Amino acid sequence: VSALRIGVIGAGIMGTDHAELLDGSVSGAIVTAVADVDPARAADLAARLESAQVLASGEDVIRSGACDAVVIASHDTSHAAFTLAAIDAGLPVLCEKPLAPTAAECRAIVAAERAAGRRLVSVGFMRRFDPAYVALKAELSSGRLGDPLLVVAQSRGVTSGPGATSEFSITGSAIHEFDVVPWLVDSELVEVRWTAPERQPHGLADPQVMLGRTAAGGLVTMETYLNARYGYDIRCEILGSAGAAALRDPATVVSATALTRSTGYPADWRPRFREAYRLELQAWIDALRSGDDSPLADAVDGLRATLVAEAAIASMRADGAPVAVEPV
Ligand SMILES: NC(=O)c1ccc[n+]([C@@H]2O[C@H](COP(=O)([O-])OP(=O)(O)OC[C@H]3O[C@@H](n4cnc5c(N)ncnc54)[C@H](O)[C@@H]3O)[C@@H](O)[C@H]2O)c1
Repeated sequence: VSALRIGVIGAGIMGTDHAELLDGSVSGAIVTAVADVDPARAADLAARLESAQVLASGEDVIRSGACDAVVIASHDTSHAAFTLAAIDAGLPVLCEKPLAPTAAECRAIVAAERAAGRRLVSVGFMRRFDPAYVALKAELSSGRLGDPLLVVAQSRGVTSGPGATSEFSITGSAIHEFDVVPWLVDSELVEVRWTAPERQPHGLADPQVMLGRTAAGGLVTMETYLNARYGYDIRCEILGSAGAAALRDPATVVSATALTRSTGYPADWRPRFREAYRLELQAWIDALRSGDDSPLADAVDGLRATLVAEAAIASMRADGAPVAVEPV
């Protein structure tokens, strides 16, 4: 089979990274079309790729006939419309997280894919491909930790982007925890309660702490802090009935200077998860070429994470009262 022709919608940070990985570091794929509402960004990206044309819109990428599959890396609020258009055109799609910011949109996608009668949708929950998370899941699956009783998950970034809100922190950032924690412990989140400091020097509720319960009877604390300032820092520890395991700090160099021993932090998610993005894209392409089921998160996983986000937002608006997660 010749290389799959991939269209990329959205030529920002993620669209650019995905397109460059697909062209340069993933076998069996070539980016043939890109689009962005900002045509200069699409042109900049196309110029860095081997043989991509710039098209006027995401709809054009889907309808052009120039692509066998599409990656959606545009604004969160545009994900549902593009994903539905791709399903309608019969194109496999890798949609960046969140599948959509509202459960209603995610449900429409799940229904459209069911009507199409085959798996078309994959969601960019790349932590499932991060070697450290994969090893943590394997450690739990080995049985050595016993039953998971408490997961402590923390996501910290340097600064929030312009226009970030307390709700965006949940649908855009904490959503990674809502996918990866149930995946790790193999049990859905069924209830969530939300809290945050009353002090808001960053202009939004930040950090936020969410307490979740899993169907299997475990507890989860999930902290999201967009403005931690000191670095991009992702932590996760599983406390089980027979032992505990945690992600280790991924920094690989320790410096000794000026009476201090130190390691660095990445400035954002790209260096931390670069290998996860590459492995995720390769797994997506391999499945499309072989006809096997995609091992990426599917539309129902995308819906499930957004349902937890909606419960967290409802808890935020109810002063931290526990809120049941609506079933899929
Ligand atoms: N998996 C991850 O770790 C991860 C990390 C960061 C961002 N994301 C997700 O990736 C997506 C892109 O994020 P980003 O950081 O690259 O943002 P970005 O702002 O850098 O890029 C988004 C691009 O999409 C374009 N765009 C917006 N609406 C569009 C539309 N309707 N049609 C075509 N282009 C459109 C914008 O002009 C911009 O160039 C978001 O959904 C975000 O949530 C995922």
